[in-house]
Amino acid sequence: MKSPLVFVIAAMVTCIVAQDPYYVWPDVFNDEERDAFYYGQFPDDFKWSTATSSYQIEGAWDVEDKGESVWDTFAHEGTHVANGDTGDVACDSYNLYATDVQLIKNMGLSYYRFSLSWPRILPNGRPDSASADGLRYYNALINELLDNDINPQVTLYHWDLPQALEDEGGFLSDDFPQWFNDYATYCFEQFGDRVKFWITFNEPWIIAVLGYGDGVFAPGLNGIGDKVYNVSHNLILGHAMTYRTYDSTYRASQMGEIGITLNSDFVEPYDRSIPSDVEAASRSLRFGLGWYANPIFKNGDYPDIMKEKIARKSAAQGLASSRLPEFTEEEKNMIKGTYDFFGLNHYTTVYCVDSDQEDLSNPPSYYKDGDVNQWKDSSWPSTGSSWLHVVPWGIRRLATWIRDEYGQDIPIYVTENGVSTKDVAELNDEIRTKYYTSYINEILKAIRIDNVNVKGYTAWSLMDNFEWAAGYTERFGLHYVDFSDPERPRTPKASANAYAQIVADNGFNSGSTVTGALCLLVASTLLALINAFVPSTCFEF
Ligand code: BGC
Repeated sequence: MKSPLVFVIAAMVTCIVAQDPYYVWPDVFNDEERDAFYYGQFPDDFKWSTATSSYQIEGAWDVEDKGESVWDTFAHEGTHVANGDTGDVACDSYNLYATDVQLIKNMGLSYYRFSLSWPRILPNGRPDSASADGLRYYNALINELLDNDINPQVTLYHWDLPQALEDEGGFLSDDFPQWFNDYATYCFEQFGDRVKFWITFNEPWIIAVLGYGDGVFAPGLNGIGDKVYNVSHNLILGHAMTYRTYDSTYRASQMGEIGITLNSDFVEPYDRSIPSDVEAASRSLRFGLGWYANPIFKNGDYPDIMKEKIARKSAAQGLASSRLPEFTEEEKNMIKGTYDFFGLNHYTTVYCVDSDQEDLSNPPSYYKDGDVNQWKDSSWPSTGSSWLHVVPWGIRRLATWIRDEYGQDIPIYVTENGVSTKDVAELNDEIRTKYYTSYINEILKAIRIDNVNVKGYTAWSLMDNFEWAAGYTERFGLHYVDFSDPERPRTPKASANAYAQIVADNGFNSGSTVTGALCLLVASTLLALINAFVPSTCFEF
């Protein structure tokens, strides 16, 4: 006799096979092993967050005694930002911060990453100019967050340097590390009783290369062959000095964590079977991420490959010394190990090959110093930003690369990840929902399959905001902001709900389980019907 069980099993198998494996981007990526969706949960103490930065959302650029920042100056010049946009009003979060806190709460998040505006707190950049209104504003924001059970994750510097300090040389001044340390000390004193997570700098690479190299970001200087290295040198010293200050003076009483946030694309060798492609990829990552990570997370100094190449090229270019400055032994000891965590901002991936020949030509350029050619594959899904293609598997590979290069134990926080759309009034933002789902899934694989120590994830951004040189033409928000309305209303997009669901589930509940349960229900109903209406002899052969 053929038991009804046969039908039940057949029904279940059909259901499960029909939906596995599941791919978020079946139309573009379809490497079975790499891209299949992974069901499971994040560790219980995983920290879910979303982020913004001061100049991008606050507005109130000249309220009370606030000092001007380099971005105020740069945007007001009118020629550097799309449509002549500025952050004068932006999302008006200076006035609407309590609304922002509710948006964060509605998504079920327990963390919020935002930055402090240095010139709002210290109008001339130095503690002797401390602003009562700056202090009032950030105290109000921090208290509002804590009242709503949201922990502040504070970035001390997200690109809005006081113009007064830029006028004295900014990051190019040897005094920069001390200026930054004094500002940070003031912030630890004022806010450290409540802030337990500090990030010194957001994306040093962008500060140096786009701000002082290409000049497309404030302060708009051109020094791609040399200034970029001096800026980065002072920044690393400022970071290290500040970490040491926190460590020696505040950690015992305030018990917080402090680190730095670095940005990096993943660099994929175009052909993994060609050794020079593989070497070029490592070299590119060391010239980008390693420029800052090697001194801080490894040995207090720049990667050897950077030191060798830049010294050789500088000599060929007729210079008396290398364009890459040197740290003293004392500085190396001060810099090494200045981290409690690794903050990682990641958006996209590039392919690379070796450039075949060492480029010794003049004028020098950071872009030529690594001798790597890289590009984005045009088949990878495009977004609202030309530089950002969707490549979910890149974030997993980058996380494992960081683990392998800097050490298994370093806690990694993804402090930014997200995607843009063009300036369209679109609430059903399917691409963003897919982007978050697939990138977060790759992080889950990094944790569960590769054993990488990722402790938290931060979606960029809480809401649409001033996207630097692109102004308001590109939108990264989980919430839509109507910039034509003086009230700056915020409306959740579909991606805000999708992200909230991932957070509520602390990962991804198994589709197989859900479908399997459904199948079981269907099968057992079927079985009951069979038992009730069909005589058992029907199943005899
Ligand atoms: C920056 C953000 C920016 C985002 C998207 C990151 O590099 O930290 O300020 O809005 O990328 O471009």
